[in-house]
Amino acid sequence: MTSIEKTLLRALKGETAIPPPIWLMRQAGRYLPEYRAIRAETENFLDLCFTPDLAVEVTLQPIRRYGLDAAILFSDILVVPYALGQRVWFEEGAGPRLEPLRRGEALARLSVDGLHETLAPVYETLRRLRVELPEQTALIGFAGAPWTVASYMIEGGTSKDFAVAKIWAYRAPDEFARIIDLLVESTSAYLIAQVEAGAEVLQLFDSWAGVWPEAALRRWCLEPAAEIIRRVKAAYPDVPFILFPRGVGTLYQAFANEAGADGLGLDTTVPLDWAREHLQGPVTLQGNLDPLLLVAGGTAMDQAAARILDTLGGGPFIFNLGHGITPETPPEHVERLVSLVQAWRPGA
Ligand code: CP3
Repeated sequence: MTSIEKTLLRALKGETAIPPPIWLMRQAGRYLPEYRAIRAETENFLDLCFTPDLAVEVTLQPIRRYGLDAAILFSDILVVPYALGQRVWFEEGAGPRLEPLRRGEALARLSVDGLHETLAPVYETLRRLRVELPEQTALIGFAGAPWTVASYMIEGGTSKDFAVAKIWAYRAPDEFARIIDLLVESTSAYLIAQVEAGAEVLQLFDSWAGVWPEAALRRWCLEPAAEIIRRVKAAYPDVPFILFPRGVGTLYQAFANEAGADGLGLDTTVPLDWAREHLQGPVTLQGNLDPLLLVAGGTAMDQAAARILDTLGGGPFIFNLGHGITPETPPEHVERLVSLVQAWRPGA
C-alpha cells in the first residue's frame, strides 16, 4: 500500500500545494465549547497539558470539526520553565504567572536534570496522537523560543514593555546569556524528544521577538533559534522546522536566510507582496490572516483570505493566521475560512 505524503510536509519541502495546507495557531482552545467543557473539569491548566487522555482529546477537537491539515500538540510554551524547576501557574483572567527569576541568582534554582521526567506526559500525548490522527493529518510539536520563554521567566508573566527583561539583558548580558543558553539546551533536548515521540514538524514560537533593536534581536532571537535548529537537525536532519519570529519587520529576511528553518511564520503586519518578493522560495511561508478578521468574519475576512491566497498561494505556502486564534472567535467563521482555503485555485 502506498500512502500519499501529507500536504503540510510537501509544502515544507518547498512544493507548491494547490490548495495550500491550512492549520491555525491556537486552533485548540477556549473558542471551542467542547474545549471549555474539558477545561471546566481541570482546575489547573498545566494538569490539562500533563494528562495525556485530556491533551489528546483537546488536540483532536479542531481536527474533528474542520479537517485541518495539521494537529498541533496541546501543551504550552511554559512547560519548559516549569520542568526546569520554576513555579508556573495560570490565573483566571490574568494569564500565566511565574515566580520571577532574580538578578544574581537567576540559575540557582533551575536545572535540566528533571526535564524529561517532568515532560514525559507530553511525549506520551504525542505517541498517542500519532496512532489516533487521520493519515493525512501532520502532527506538529512545538516549543517557545528562548527569548519569549525567558521574558515570562523574568517578568513573572505577560508584560507590556518587557522592561525588566530588556534592561537585564542590556546591563548584565553575561548572566542573561546563561538563561538563554540554558533554554537553548533544554528546548533542543525537548524538541528532539518530541520527534522521537512522533512529532513530524516542529514550530518555534518567538511571539515577542519584535521588541528588540537589530543587534539584540540577532543575539537573543536569531542566533538561539539557529542553534536550536542546528542541534535538532544534527539528530534528525529531515524534520522540518517552522520559525515564528513575530513582529520583526524587514528583519524577516535575516530569519529567512540565516536561521536554517524550512518555514517562516509571518505575523499579521507583514506586507504580502514584499513577502513574496523577498522571502518566499528559499523558505516556505506560513500565515498571516489577522486573527481579528476571523472574529469579524463576513466579506472583510473573505477578501483578506483571498488576497493572501492570490499573493502567496502560487509558491510554497501554508495558510495560517498572523497570531493565535482568540477566545471570541465564532467557530462557524473557522469553518468558513477552511472551506474558502480548500476551494481556492490560482487565477479563479
Ligand atoms: O492549539 C494550540 O495551538 C496548541 C496549544 C498552545 C497553547 N499555548 C495552549 C494554551 C500553544 C501552541 C500555545 C503557545 C503559547 N503559549 C504561546 C506562543 C503563541 C502565542 O500565542 O504567542 C505563548 C506566548 C503562550 C503563553 C500563554 N499560555 C499565555 C500568554 C496564555 C494566556 C493567554 C491565553 O490565551 O489564555 C496561555 C494559556 C493557554 N495556552 C491557553 C491555551 C488553550 C488558555 C488557558 C485556559 O484554557 O485557561
